[in-house]
Amino acid sequence: MAKTKTAFFCQNCGTQYPKWVGQCTACKEWNTIVEEVVQKEEKSSWKATMNGTPKRASPVNISDIDTDKEIRYDILDHEFNRVLGGGLVPGSLVLLGGEPGIGKSTLLLQIALRLPYKTLYVSGEESMKQIKMRAERIQPNSANCFVLTETKTQQIFKQISEINPDIVVIDSIQTLHSDYIESSAGSISQIRESTAELIKFAKETNTPVILVGHITKDGTIAGPKILEHMVDTVLQFEGDRNYMYRILRALKNRFGSTAELGIYEMQGDGLREVSNPSEILISKYDEALSGTAIVATLEGMRPLLIEIQALVSSAVYGTPQRTATGFNAKRLNMLLAVLEKRAGFKLGAKDVFLNITGGITVDDPAIDLGVVAAVLSSNADIPLEKGVCFAAEIGLAGEVRPVRRIDQRILEAEKLGFTRIFVSKNNKIALKNHSILISKVSKIEDVIRELFD
Ligand code: TYD
Ligand code: MG
Repeated sequence: MAKTKTAFFCQNCGTQYPKWVGQCTACKEWNTIVEEVVQKEEKSSWKATMNGTPKRASPVNISDIDTDKEIRYDILDHEFNRVLGGGLVPGSLVLLGGEPGIGKSTLLLQIALRLPYKTLYVSGEESMKQIKMRAERIQPNSANCFVLTETKTQQIFKQISEINPDIVVIDSIQTLHSDYIESSAGSISQIRESTAELIKFAKETNTPVILVGHITKDGTIAGPKILEHMVDTVLQFEGDRNYMYRILRALKNRFGSTAELGIYEMQGDGLREVSNPSEILISKYDEALSGTAIVATLEGMRPLLIEIQALVSSAVYGTPQRTATGFNAKRLNMLLAVLEKRAGFKLGAKDVFLNITGGITVDDPAIDLGVVAAVLSSNADIPLEKGVCFAAEIGLAGEVRPVRRIDQRILEAEKLGFTRIFVSKNNKIALKNHSILISKVSKIEDVIRELFD
């Protein structure tokens, strides 16, 4: 029987080393060497601990593959189900990322306690007692939930083969330790090997596995980016710890769209699903203020609604001031020039200040229309109508131009309780069932007429 062998490989060029080195001698990159398993000891692989031999895959004509049979586990949480694309797919690996203390463990334990399926909740972070205390806080009845405090993957598989759970939850991937690799838990090699073993387990037994992943300071899931490539679905749980609201979104989903998001409220007895998200925003925007506009922008792949504030006032000095925070000042000047030339606004003798709230910087051209609306609103001192938002670019001729991923932006706006969105007439919209009013405009003048007349 072959023993487990590991070697060190450069992640950049693939050169193999017998031991760890700081710099790859072949490609001269630093810190790219990680340990990997090259040969496994058959006996201790998860298969050996399971009963029976797993099926071998053979090619099947694509037209013969039956998709009707694809069932999904309803996990009795509307928000989570929807973000997953309609339930948990058997054999899938879901990674749930989020900052410490945001409520990942609470969310998963809460789901595990509610499920009618046999669920194994593996925790490497908390003791049985701590988990029980949390469970009592959330909901005491739990006939199908089993708890295991273990960090060794081989031991976890052994326990799995004994109790045969329908769903496995691992909290967290950074605490797992595989015997095949010598480095400490949480290192890149450990995370990679443990995830690979779990994927193999999930695919071969058709058991869904939900992993918790920690997030580093810069907002990415700790560990190699490859972790996100390996799993089927990457979810992110986020929110401001100063507020009670938490947002669950899919960053990647092999079985559904990434446009969906779920909203929860953290309460004393766990997380409550928020089915009508406008209840969050409406209270904030109760008082209509002139000079503010909401835009549907994209942050990477994710839609995000942000607020733009503009202040237009008479210039005190000869040359008017133009200040933009979080937005390109040149672009602001261009938009103001377009307003002068194409819409006849005399902004030449006005100071214009623009601010994107929340301290973020946006370079998405889709916020142009919102910037223009905020400037016009401040100039006229007339607040925009409630529940309206924008997603379009402005061209030099004053034309309203289409933007990418418009469906996702519209969906997000609708989800967050907005009732009307301004988009370009030339934007192709595939969306069918929506309740938000989509106002299609082709020129700046159209928008002005709709908003201020
Ligand atoms: P937790 O799930 O431990 O976060 P994570 O696993 O993402 O690190 O959440 C911890 C926070 O949630 C903690 O600050 C207390 C709070 N909380 C509640 O407000 N209500 C509850 O019912 C529970 C269980 C936790
Ligand atoms: Mg936790």
